[in-house]
Order: sequence, then C-alpha cells, then structure tokens
Amino acid sequence: MPEKSVARGQWKSRVGFILAASGSAIGLGNIVFFSANAYRFGGGAFYLPYLIALFVIGIPVMILEFGLGNFTRHAFPGSLSRIAGNKGEFIGWWANVNAAFLTMYYITILGWVLGMLFGSFGALWKTSVAIPAFGLAEGDLANPVAFFFQMLSTWKPVIFVAIIWFFNILIIRKGVETIEPATRIFVPLMWIFMIILIIRGVTLDNGIHGVYLLFTPNFSVMKNPAVWQGAFSQIFFTLSLGMGTMTAYASYLPRKSDVTQNSVITSLLNCGFEYIAGLAIFSILFACAVVPQASTLSMTFFILPRGIGEMPAGVAAFGILFFGLLLLAGLTSSVSLVETVVSSIKDNFGWTRRKTVGIAATVGLIGSACFALPQVVNPGLENDGTLGLTLLDLMDHWVFSYGLLIIGLSECLLIGWVYGVDKIRRYVNSNSRIQLGRWFNVLVKFVIPSLLIYVLAISVWGEFHDGLYGMDYADNYSEGYSFMRSAPIVVFAFWIIACTVGGVILTRKGEFKDHE
Ligand code: PHE
Repeated sequence: MPEKSVARGQWKSRVGFILAASGSAIGLGNIVFFSANAYRFGGGAFYLPYLIALFVIGIPVMILEFGLGNFTRHAFPGSLSRIAGNKGEFIGWWANVNAAFLTMYYITILGWVLGMLFGSFGALWKTSVAIPAFGLAEGDLANPVAFFFQMLSTWKPVIFVAIIWFFNILIIRKGVETIEPATRIFVPLMWIFMIILIIRGVTLDNGIHGVYLLFTPNFSVMKNPAVWQGAFSQIFFTLSLGMGTMTAYASYLPRKSDVTQNSVITSLLNCGFEYIAGLAIFSILFACAVVPQASTLSMTFFILPRGIGEMPAGVAAFGILFFGLLLLAGLTSSVSLVETVVSSIKDNFGWTRRKTVGIAATVGLIGSACFALPQVVNPGLENDGTLGLTLLDLMDHWVFSYGLLIIGLSECLLIGWVYGVDKIRRYVNSNSRIQLGRWFNVLVKFVIPSLLIYVLAISVWGEFHDGLYGMDYADNYSEGYSFMRSAPIVVFAFWIIACTVGGVILTRKGEFKDHE
C-alpha cells in the first residue's frame, strides 16, 4: 500500500470530516428529490424499501467507499487501481465522467435556485406575468411556475450558473483546507434553517396530515419493482455514493480513522435530515392543499414555492429561507462533486491544484451553461420547456437511475471478487470500534450485487418494453426543433460513449503519483 502520500491535505478534525461528508450527502436530494420520490411511490410505501436500501446497501457501500479512500489515500480511480489494477482504474474514471455530468447539471439546478432566491425577495410572489414565448397570457399560471419558466427562457441562468461555479472554486481552491471551514459554517446553518421550516410546516392548519401520509405504510406497493429501483437510486444519490465522492473525501483522513463509525454517523445524519425535510415539505404542501404529484424538479421550483406562497404570513421570508437552505445544502454537495473530479485528476497527472481547478471549472461551466440554454423547444411545457431543461432531464435519467448503480455494482464486484473483501474488512476493523463480521463479506459479494443487478435489469427491460426514456414526450416539440425528437437517443449515446471512452483514455494516460 502507498505509504508515501506526502503533503496530501488532511482534515483538521474528525468533526470537520463528518461535517464535510454529511454536507456532501445532504443536498437537493434530501430536501426535494426525496419528497418527490416518496410521494410518487405512495408516501409511507417508500419508507420500508428506503430503510432496507439504507441498511443493506447504503451503509455497507459507504463503508467500502470510505474504507477505500482511507486505506489507499487516493481518489477513486487511484484507489481502485491499487486494489484491482487497470480494470479498477477504468471503473474509477468511468465514475468520474459520470460525476462530471452530474456536477454540471447539479450546478445548473443551483443556478436556478439562486434565481428563485433573488425572486423570493419580491417578484416571485407578484401577480402572474405573461410569457409570450410559451403563449401564456397574464394570469395564466400560478406565479412560481410563470416566474420559473420566464427565468428559464432568458440567458440569466447562465450568469447564475457562473456565480455558482465561482463559489465552488472559492470553496475548493485550497482543498480540504478551505472546504472544512466552509462546511463548518454551512452545515449547522442548514440544520437551523430546516428546523425553522419544520416548525412552521407542522404548526400550519392541516400540516400534520402531510406527516401522516409520510408515515402511513402501504405494503401492497412494495410488489412494484419501480419502488425498489426508486429507493436504491435515491439511497445512492442522497448518500453521495457511486461517484467516488466519499472515497475522495476519506482519502484526506488520517490513517487509523474509524471508518465504520464515520460511515454510520454520516449516513444517519443524512437520512435523519432527509426524513425531517420530508416532514417539513409534506406538511407545508398539505396545509396549502397543493398536491405534491410532481417530478423532482417541478417539486423544487413550483409546487413548493406555491405552497409557501399560500402561507398565512411571512411568505417572502419563508421563500428566502427555503431557497437559501437549498443553496447552502446544494453548495456543500456540489463542492464535493467538483473535488471528486479534481482530486482524481491531481492524483493521476500531478498537476497543481490551481491548474486542475481552473481546467475542471472551465469545462464544467461550459457544460452547466448548456443545461441552462433558454431556447423554448416545447411551448406546451410538456415535461420540459427549454432546451437546457430537456437535456438535463434526459441526462439525469441515465446518471441517476443507471450510472450510480452501475458504479456501486462494479465496486462491490471488484472488492468482493477481485481484491477480496476480507482484506478491506480487516483493515476497517483494525481501527473501528464497531466490528464487521463475516456477514459483511456475504453482503458485498452476493446480496448487494444481486439486488443491484435485479433493479438494473428491470430498468433496462423497461427501456426496451416502454421505449427509450424521453421518447414519449418527443412529439410535442415546436417548429424548428424537430431535431429534438432524436435527443433521447443522442443524449443516451453521448453519456455511455463519453463515460466509456473517457474511462479507457484516462486509464491509459498518466500514472498515479503520490502528492497532494
Ligand atoms: N448527495 C447529494 C444530494 O443529496 C448529491 C450528490 C451525489 C453529491 C453524488 C455528491 C455525489 O443532493
């Protein structure tokens, strides 16, 4: 094992590390995606698959990702290369390209959040504006919807996206040295904002009914494989797994860190936050009689703001609080995504941090700007109104529902079957208070891979059976945008080729050097 990782940055304290790792985990996924998914799968019905996914897959994979980083003191491709050679390194880079796509559109979403935050100070709550581009007259739509699409059909989000990238660069410019102090402020602040929102939500008239919905189990839905697919993807996304992010963060831990306890604490903090966020969101929506039947993005940008808009008092203040919370939570996650890629490139090519961040941010900004393109391709707002949002939706489908799970599966197979899970388990046990028994080997070698293969197979079957994702809404494109009909195929091909070819090229190039 590499022992000479000289001058690699290091977290100053365990609390700092836990705050940063939980800051990565707690993000848009916890606040809005979870609620949207939970509602889609029947509220309480989501509960059990979610908890099973957390304990059977989430925490064990977190132990593997933390363990890898701490054991090898390398970012994802480097650490997988140490344990499984070129095969491993390829998977690491494949994950990195996938992470790069996620970073790009995650930051675009944060750009929109910033726009909505500005809007919360006033414009968002004013009477509906007309949106000629969408053929909408004044008063046609509820305000947040109008405001959101109005904003999306301008170039403003590109500026917002640049601002978000700027903050990301600011926070990661010196690696953990600057990430740690930022998360020390942001993460506690997030909890405070969330607690205020919950108190407001459950004390609204009828708010408590939303809480009941979230906790009323419905076991019949559990026969539906889509619920399991949703729960597994959500667990990977919300815990920042299947990207190598947790490995990158753990590579900055001192040797002899308690990996198991860190994993359990980080996962429980994240999922605790997610559940209480669900309480806040469901109670606000129920109190305001807004049905949360929505995609994750519409939940964020119009369903919830509409709920807030109906509050008896303090609308602007709660709007600012909500979007401010999303921004803080999202920033501590996007920073970890950028760091995932930056640390991999630095480890591999030995570039300075300045150069690596500069190049990564330039490429990233271009990507994020593409997802913010304002051309209105679908005036009916069928699924997605603008070119950027359509591309984002298509890309998110592959990254979220497939990419994370494919990486998680490969990781378990490499560790379980190529390297030997026992070696990792012994390493982790040697510094951890909670000891992992042999059952952990069984989980990593058999149980997790079988579950992941099962849901992946179901999803792939669905693509064949129901048609490739996105094809069904391809008929509504406005004139001049008929080329969009092939967008679902183009985006899919782009994603799979970029990850695979990128993986092959990067595996061949450079070699891992041991420096910061
Ligand atoms: N966990 C983050 C969220 O819930 C998203 C994320 C995924 C961040 C993967 C890093 C890596 O929003």
